[in-house]
Formats: sequence, structure tokens, C-alpha cells
Amino acid sequence: MKCLWGAALSAAQSEGGFQDRGIMICDTLPLGSMEERITKRFPFPQDHSYRPTVKAVELYEHYQEDIALMQEAGIQALRTSINWARVYPTGMEEQPDERALQFYDELINSLKRAHIEPIITISHLETPNTLFETYGGWEHPAFLTHYMRFAKTIITHFADRVHYWITFNEMNMALHLPLCVGIGVDRAADKEACMLQGLHHTLMASAKVIDFVKTQTLDVMIGAMIAYSPVYPYSCHPQDVWKASMLTLDNLMVSDVLVKGCYPIQIKQRQQRHGLDFSNDEVYLKQHTVDFLATSYYCSTAASSDPSHAVSSGNLFGGTKNPFLQESEWGWTIDPMGMKICLFDLYDRYGIPLMVTENGLGARDIVEDGEVHDPYRIAYLKAHVDMVEEAIQDGIPVLAYTMWSFLDQVSASSGQMSKRYGLVYVDYDDEGNGSGKRIRKDSFAWYQEVLQAKG
Ligand code: BG6
Repeated sequence: MKCLWGAALSAAQSEGGFQDRGIMICDTLPLGSMEERITKRFPFPQDHSYRPTVKAVELYEHYQEDIALMQEAGIQALRTSINWARVYPTGMEEQPDERALQFYDELINSLKRAHIEPIITISHLETPNTLFETYGGWEHPAFLTHYMRFAKTIITHFADRVHYWITFNEMNMALHLPLCVGIGVDRAADKEACMLQGLHHTLMASAKVIDFVKTQTLDVMIGAMIAYSPVYPYSCHPQDVWKASMLTLDNLMVSDVLVKGCYPIQIKQRQQRHGLDFSNDEVYLKQHTVDFLATSYYCSTAASSDPSHAVSSGNLFGGTKNPFLQESEWGWTIDPMGMKICLFDLYDRYGIPLMVTENGLGARDIVEDGEVHDPYRIAYLKAHVDMVEEAIQDGIPVLAYTMWSFLDQVSASSGQMSKRYGLVYVDYDDEGNGSGKRIRKDSFAWYQEVLQAKG
């Protein structure tokens, strides 16, 4: 099995093109801390705060130029998403917006012409806000119906050109950042019950998409994605080891359902405590499991039972500060070995092909004389790519590695442009000022060489 080496984007964070689409939940979030963004509602458009994703980096207008850059870099695959709120602006229309399908036709055809394999995420932060305001969120069964209409529309339309599909981005984020994935916990009396119900509906939706694809006998591979962070015990004290094991199980709850089709015991207990019982759905979930498991990997975390230790932040949840690791400016640990541990953990547990659909370093890049020198990103990516390569050599089937991200784009957690991940710098600041000009960073040339060597 040959691994496709590429890069990733998401529609929500890169496209803009607001005039031709509906409002997404993430358009309602202004620039700010993650905590603020996930706990408050910001009425849109009545409140005039700056909304970064409305403009994003204007991939919608610049996609031809951006695909030319992708071709120049030599990426073999682009993982991106199709914007739900562009195809169904409120999420509730009976018919898709034909202009949206036309846009993605052009995008996907251009990728194919450039010999870049599209890997499509059906839902990555693009949930239509009207749908969310109408029903409250994924905890409502109507979400399933509307998501299925969208998923069937795009799979039917693009399956002749798109072989790899991912039903949802980072599904276990529901347990950490439910509002971001469209679960309306802020309005719920029992927030935990709302979160578990919403998560269950997303898992059922994922299984229904798999059912659809298999029934239609389409020549596609269908997977789903989690965010995985290995959790290390801070010491060999059994309490630390226990805490790390429990957090690891938390991390794997959602993938257990996706791959094995059943909830592990600890989540069942949580469901029962809130009067929820999904056991009737387990036969269906077992019959419709994923062909591959996709994961993001940014950082590892550490766990200690001693609350006096310093803490660090991270993609999924913070943890105890690991004295052996450096951190990014945003407090995410830099741990290439964790990449290999992630792939071994997941393959050992599930034994199905894997995809690394996000991995990268958020940093504050500076333009000097029209150039961007980012040795820190090259060092991060090189060390992680080496670990993926080692895991492949050790026999782990990795279908694709798509680093995050091809272009700088709006940060999901903070809405900042200044938290940059791209191989290509985009000249916009946190308030959307700038020319939008694309500048190849040093990491662009470095990755180009890596890709040439990988053929
Ligand atoms: C992942 C998300 O969790 O992390 C991406 O799938 C996100 O959408 C990425 O951009 C990096 O996080 P952030 O908050 O630094 O943009």
C-alpha cells in the first residue's frame, strides 16, 4: 500500500466566499480565546464584531492559483472539505445550490488535472447556523436527516472523482468542544446528556453514510476521523498510570464505536447515569464500520494525579507539563515520538488502514524582505514525517499523510490568522487586513524536496 503524501485545508477555515453561501456556526464566532468562543453565542450579523471565517483566506476566489502552488509543491493529495452551508445554505433546503456543486466540480477537476488526489471530509466546522438555531444542534434527530441529504448529494455527485471520504472531522471533539461541532450544550439543562446524545447522532450519521456507500456499491473508501493525543503517565506512580490510562480510553471511545461498532463500558456508564441507552443501535453500528480510521496528531499530553504540577494546553485537552518536551507558543507540546506512538496505538487496537489527516505547527511567522523563514516548522514536520515513515517501514498501513496546512488559514480555536500552519503564507492579519498575497515559506521548498524523493 502506497502512502499519499500531501497537505490539508478545511473549507470553513480557508474559503471565505460568504456572498455565495449560508452562515456556518463558526462564522458566528469572533476572534477570541477558545474558552470564550466555545461558551458564548454571538448573534450574527446583528453584532458587528470581526468574523474571521467570513473572509478566511479567500480560497473561493484564489483556488486556481492555490492549486497551481500545490502542483508546484508536488503534493500527492489534498484533504479538504465541502462546505455544507454552501451546498445547503440553511441546511434545510430540499435541493442543493447548483452554483456550489459547480464550484466544487471546478475545484476537484482542477485537483485531478494537477494529479492531486482529493480526500474529502463531509463535515469540518461547516455546520449551517440556521439549522443549529432551528433545532438546537446534533442532539436533535432532525440533524441526522439534513446531514444525510447533504452527504448523499455530494457523494452521488463526486464519487466518480473522489475515492477517499471522511464522514466527520475529529469526532471525539464532541466530548471536549461540543459547541464547535454543533451540539447545543449551552442551551441544555443536562449538558452531559445533550453532549452524549449529540455524539450518538453523529456516530449514527457516520454509519448511515457508510450504509449508503455500500448499498450503492460505489468504488470509494469511507472513513471517519478522530483527534488522537497519546497520554503519558507523569511518573510510574500507579495513580498517574491510572489517570493516563483513563484519559487514553476517553480518547478512544469514539473510534471504538467507529471501528468496532460498540460503545466501551465507561461511556455506557456515563450514558446510563443520564438515563440514555443506545444499545438498540449497536447492531446497526456494528454492521456499518469504517474502511479506514483517520486521525490528527499535533501533540501528546501527560497526566499526573498531583494537581500542584504545572499544566500545558493542547489540541484535545491540556495536561500536566511534560518536562522533557518543548511547547509551541500556544502551549502545545512538540513530540515527534508521539506520532509513532499514535500510529502504533491505533493500528494495534483496530488493525485497519490509517490516515494522518492533520499534523503541523502553529507559529507566528514573519515576512522579511518578502520571504518567510520558518526553520521551526521544517524541524517539526521533518521529525514527524520521519516517524510516519518509520511506522510504515514497521508495517503500519498508512493510506495518506496530509500535513496541516497547505495555506495559512483561520485558526479553529482562536480565530487568529497569526497562528499560522501553512507552507504558504497568506498576507492577512487577525483583522483581515492585508493583500491576500501568497508567499512560499522555506518549508514549502523543503516539503517539495521531500515529496520529490518520495516520488
Ligand atoms: C484540529 C482541527 O483540531 O486542529 C483544525 O481539525 C484546526 O480545524 C487544527 O485548525 C489546529 O488547531 P488550531 O486551533 O490551532 O487552528
